[in-house]
Amino acid sequence: MKFVVTAGPTREPIDPVRFLSNRSSGKMGYALAAAARAAGHKVELISGPVCLPPPRGVKLIPVITADEMFAAVHSSFPHADVLVMCAAVADYQAARMSRRKIKKKTEEFSLVLKPTRDILLSLPRRRDCFVVGFAAETNDLARHARAKLARKNCEMVIANDVSHAEIGMESDENAVTIFQREGRTRVLKRAPKKEIARELVKIILREVQKSFDKKMLRMNDSDT
Ligand code: PMT
Repeated sequence: MKFVVTAGPTREPIDPVRFLSNRSSGKMGYALAAAARAAGHKVELISGPVCLPPPRGVKLIPVITADEMFAAVHSSFPHADVLVMCAAVADYQAARMSRRKIKKKTEEFSLVLKPTRDILLSLPRRRDCFVVGFAAETNDLARHARAKLARKNCEMVIANDVSHAEIGMESDENAVTIFQREGRTRVLKRAPKKEIARELVKIILREVQKSFDKKMLRMNDSDT
């Protein structure tokens, strides 16, 4: 099976030396890519700028901006059996990038931002690809994650609390709640990201198998 995993942050340039970004280290996405590879699958890892070596046997596609990640995901998606959007894609970019370094001012000044394109939302619906989104929340985790599950055309949303230093962004450990379409939820307690990733890959593969079995059943029913 072919997994496409996104990881890390994106950087949105303001001028030649400055950018907007976030604290994502790439650890969760890289652990997922490594776990999918260790389970015997082909893996493409579309990664924003991070300080991690790519897992062995994984094809790395490096990107910097949300626009580059958008293009890379669209190019890999048609051949993917599973897409896991673990990257913390910037929600905003500068409305205009200054070609010259913006000079320091003594008074306040404002930057005009515009929303980036939502990659998950922009993807065409494919019944033969299992799409997993992540939700990084600081409050009302379940409510926000369920809303993302409904809005973003995912089969599954994996929510994590990013308001604590020990889990979520940058840390070596995480704790997640998995939200699925039929309303099912499941909690994976705090553990190293590598362990969480192994468990998530198992859960995703079980769900892929289930939807394959359902499809076969429907095909057999229509044949008889
Ligand atoms: O990298 P680490 O330090 O290990 O941290 C891991 C993590 C906290 C970054 C990761 O576990 C995580 O939660 N990733 C998703 C972060 C995020 O952007 O969440 P969101 O709730 O803002 O976005 C929801 C989903 O939409 C995500 O799957 C995101 O990839 C996707 N998205 C977001 C913006 C955008 N323009 N296009 C998108 O497709």
